[in-house]
Amino acid sequence: MAVDVLLGLQWGDEGKGKIVDVLSPEYDLIARFQGGPNAGHTLEFENKKFVLNTIPSGIFNDKIINLVGNGVVIDPILLRKELLNLQQHGFDPVSSNKLTIARKAHLILPTHRLLDAASETKMGKSKIGSTLKGIGPTYMDKTGRNGIRVGDTALPDFKERYQKLVDKHLSILEHYGPVPDFSDQEQEFFKAIEFLLTLKQVDSEHFVNQYLKDGKPVLAEGAQGTLLDVDFGSYPFVTSSNTTTAGACTGLGIAPRHIGKVIGIFKAYCTRVGSGPFPTELFDETGEQLRHAGNEFGSTTGRARRCGWLDIPALKYAIMINGVTEMVMTKADVLSGFSTIKVCTRYEYNGEIIDYMPYDIQSLEAKPIYDEVSGWQDDLTGIKSSEELPENLVKYVKYIEEQVGVPVKYLSVGPDRLQTLEMY
Ligand code: GDP
Ligand code: IMO
Ligand code: MG
Repeated sequence: MAVDVLLGLQWGDEGKGKIVDVLSPEYDLIARFQGGPNAGHTLEFENKKFVLNTIPSGIFNDKIINLVGNGVVIDPILLRKELLNLQQHGFDPVSSNKLTIARKAHLILPTHRLLDAASETKMGKSKIGSTLKGIGPTYMDKTGRNGIRVGDTALPDFKERYQKLVDKHLSILEHYGPVPDFSDQEQEFFKAIEFLLTLKQVDSEHFVNQYLKDGKPVLAEGAQGTLLDVDFGSYPFVTSSNTTTAGACTGLGIAPRHIGKVIGIFKAYCTRVGSGPFPTELFDETGEQLRHAGNEFGSTTGRARRCGWLDIPALKYAIMINGVTEMVMTKADVLSGFSTIKVCTRYEYNGEIIDYMPYDIQSLEAKPIYDEVSGWQDDLTGIKSSEELPENLVKYVKYIEEQVGVPVKYLSVGPDRLQTLEMY
């Protein structure tokens, strides 16, 4: 039995939450492997809409266990709020034991969030555009071997450990300027820690490997996207974790040989939130049209997403890094109404024409070179079978498959669970 991996191939927000929910009946366990509440994974079904930040997207399926893996960073305050919100809507993963948390996952402290904000303010125009959830500082403490893990909350000296780390943070924060009062957040944090102690905690490495031994299928759910990977993304405009397939191994405790299918999700065009290079970004009316039609505003922060055409060199790069075996194209419906659709196939870069993602597209511009394909006018949102798809959309999908050499197995034509078509 293998662990299948589902992850984003662009700059995040590709529709991972929706697709995990759709595919979840095929699995016994859904496991988030990295990132934190910087993620916003949207699910829509039966006229309900939820945005999940830390909880895996299999949570609405009654038969599935969901694991927040060791590679995730958890803000207990936000996790508690997320669970209370689900409970208010009639879903109670806690009492039904459907949610488990890895003891080795690291905790986001209120001071991590202060550090994130202080660092961004200091950087001014060159800021990362972080979600201000404390992600970078928490992963820094993890790799700096100062972090606090979920399992530590049960130790008798937890409060001393907490204070030691806070004291370190305060000494850094003082360099940035006056430290805001965070006593309310600290109180909320400890309340949330009490709550965290009531959740089922596991050693994710043993837990996931037991599923494999028992022959039960597992789906690893990624957050963010490949181009935000700390090693392979558009550094330094990235997040602080490995968003790629390799991250599923370290983020859950599974060996590479146990990886099965790698399902890569991409939008029919591209978006990005926050700063950093984006070769195909559109600053004109077409970009505005995509933002409007695709409702491209961040699920977590509400920020307007930057929009542009599909970028094939970037997609091929993401497929290579992740070993993608099949793809899902989302938001096909958003492209309805364009007479022609552009696709970037190469870049003009440093005086040359190249068809791959080069080392640095921040200080040296990668100017997109486009192919054009014919668009379609039909509303796709009510389509129930791939046979009903407009011919030009089928051609668009085939064109992408030929360019990148990987099949598009599913096509998403709307935000609802049911607006998903199997292509093969
Ligand atoms: P994630 O972070 O990858 O899970 O994606 P987000 O939830 O942040 O952003 C995707 C947005 O697009 C959400 O608002 C989804 O409800 C919506 N969405 C997903 N698939 C489709 C689709 O095929 N068509 C349309 N119009 N919206 C979609
Ligand atoms: P999902 O899982 C889109 C972006 C931020 C910023 C950069 C660093 O919903 O696809 P961070 O807070 O991680 O330090 O921010 O990464 N970013 C995302 N963009 N979708 C996400 O998650 C993102 N998580 C972080 O906007 O540019
Ligand atoms: Mg999102």
